[in-house]
Amino acid sequence: MIKKGIILAGGKGTRMSPLTKAVNKQLLPLYDKPLIFYPLSVLMLAGIKDILIIVNKGQLNQFRKILPENNNFGIKISYKEQLKPNGLPEAFLIGEKFIGKDNVALILGDNFFYGQSLTQSLKKNISLKKGATIFLHPVRNPNLYGVAFTDKKNKVKKLIEKPKKTNSNLAVTGLYFFDNDVTKLSKKLKPSSRGELEIIDLLNLYKKKNNLKADLIGRGGSWLDTGNIEDFYDASNFISTVEKRQGLKIACLEEIAYKNRWISKKEIKDSIKFYGNCEYSKYLKNLDT
Ligand code: DAU
Repeated sequence: MIKKGIILAGGKGTRMSPLTKAVNKQLLPLYDKPLIFYPLSVLMLAGIKDILIIVNKGQLNQFRKILPENNNFGIKISYKEQLKPNGLPEAFLIGEKFIGKDNVALILGDNFFYGQSLTQSLKKNISLKKGATIFLHPVRNPNLYGVAFTDKKNKVKKLIEKPKKTNSNLAVTGLYFFDNDVTKLSKKLKPSSRGELEIIDLLNLYKKKNNLKADLIGRGGSWLDTGNIEDFYDASNFISTVEKRQGLKIACLEEIAYKNRWISKKEIKDSIKFYGNCEYSKYLKNLDT
């Protein structure tokens, strides 16, 4: 069972510059909420309440303003700094103490997931005892991501980071479930030619031991990129379209916490006071509580 989660929310942010010169990318607005609300909502939907957020050196206070340790979401938030973006598996070295003897989920701070198939998949895979689980999603431009080559039974045959040419359209999304070996295995990794510890190398260590499982987030689910400005605005439009149509918000953290029975009406009222007079507060006021 996975009860702890890490959000990796550092990075260079160069592709979004100058927007990211003063503000961390994960705090930029994706439609009506800071980007980081979306990956955090995924962990909360999976039932994870103990969360470590890893941020760039010097940016802790930016994050604390919106996601304080003492929060109204019924979850435990802690923070650690990453001195330099040395690669995704560094999360497990920085988070070694946080992980302790437990299994852990990692989600990248800039990943957006949506869809019923996602929630089902989370619920199913959260019970992980041994090994690692990755979540694959078909994309038009797989060469921008880690790519999985699978057989007919969804078994992973090969994983390659950003292959120039590929006949697989299955991207490895930025959500990963790991057993407690993850820290030990991350310590074995060496930086790649781009000077980073690579998540694909870590996953390949699990694969070698026949301990890697892949679940497909099919075409009924969505995994959107927020890598560059174009993608960022496309994702914003997607959220705006769904929210306007349904009258329901994607990644309203208090709503998820309330439905999970982690908070009561009191915390919702406190949140409304905290956010002030805005659309998000109006939504909270109208929640069926
Ligand atoms: O988004 C999924 C992809 O994420 C996977 O398909 C790839 O296998 C994986 O390597 C990664 O791809 P990128 O190289 O494009 O990731 P990027 O460097 O853009 O970083 C992703 C997020 O993680 C971003 O929000 C910044 C944060 N980050 C990244 C690194 C390398 C950190 O906080 N620290 C880091 O050291």
